[in-house]
Amino acid sequence: MVKISLILNAQNHVAVAKMCGVKRSVYSSLLVWIGIHVPAFVMITTLFVDRNQHATVLIHAGYWAVACLVITLSLNPLIVIFKSTWLRTINQYRRHLGVASFSYTFIHALCFFIKRIDLDLWQGGWQYFFHPAIAPAFLLAFPILLVLAITSNHFSIKFLSPIRWKKLHKCVYIAEIAIIVHMVLTGYGMQALLLFVPLIILQLIRQKMQIGSG
Ligand code: HEM
Repeated sequence: MVKISLILNAQNHVAVAKMCGVKRSVYSSLLVWIGIHVPAFVMITTLFVDRNQHATVLIHAGYWAVACLVITLSLNPLIVIFKSTWLRTINQYRRHLGVASFSYTFIHALCFFIKRIDLDLWQGGWQYFFHPAIAPAFLLAFPILLVLAITSNHFSIKFLSPIRWKKLHKCVYIAEIAIIVHMVLTGYGMQALLLFVPLIILQLIRQKMQIGSG
């Protein structure tokens, strides 16, 4: 009985370790955190110095958010398809990329908020958040990315159990669809196509390969 519990515990630890990518060192982890957030720092400083720059920052933050997300979601399918070692190394920083996607989404949404404050937020301007082009991002993608960013840590995996944590993090696919709808309806259909069609193809190939291998 004790032996079984020890084995299960060890398996749990391996699963947690795999999800967190424990192989990376603290320094490299910190370096990646800083590196990936340098543009975010520049964006926030720009807004702080001159909030009239919100339209420019909104565009940059939007692309950074979506780029981080697409790279995060491409990693696992690419590893399954190409079995590459260096992709596995990058995959250790998957969590950093996912959280960065939320950081940029936050700045992107903040710019929209600033724009609306300048116009008429309190005189009905808040309705813009429920516009068909914004609502999928505001009501689905934003809260999902927020929850995923908060739970992207060792403690949450242990607290929820790896299986429940994985189920929760599958919500990212709902966010993916919401972002595609958001980009298409805000007039960035071509960019959405270029970013998401290759990703969806990779995701479908991965699914097929996994079903094929039982
Ligand atoms: C509260 C949530 C959000 C709001 C209020 C919002 C608002 C907007 C607005 C107003 C535009 C049109 C910009 C223009 O034409 O000038 C836009 C475009 C865009 N959004 Fe969002 N968005 C939100 C969430 C997201 C999320 C979650 C992502 C991706 C992770 C995203 C990625 C983009 C991209 C890539 C564009 C096209 C490029 C750009 O103008 O930034 N947005 N968004």
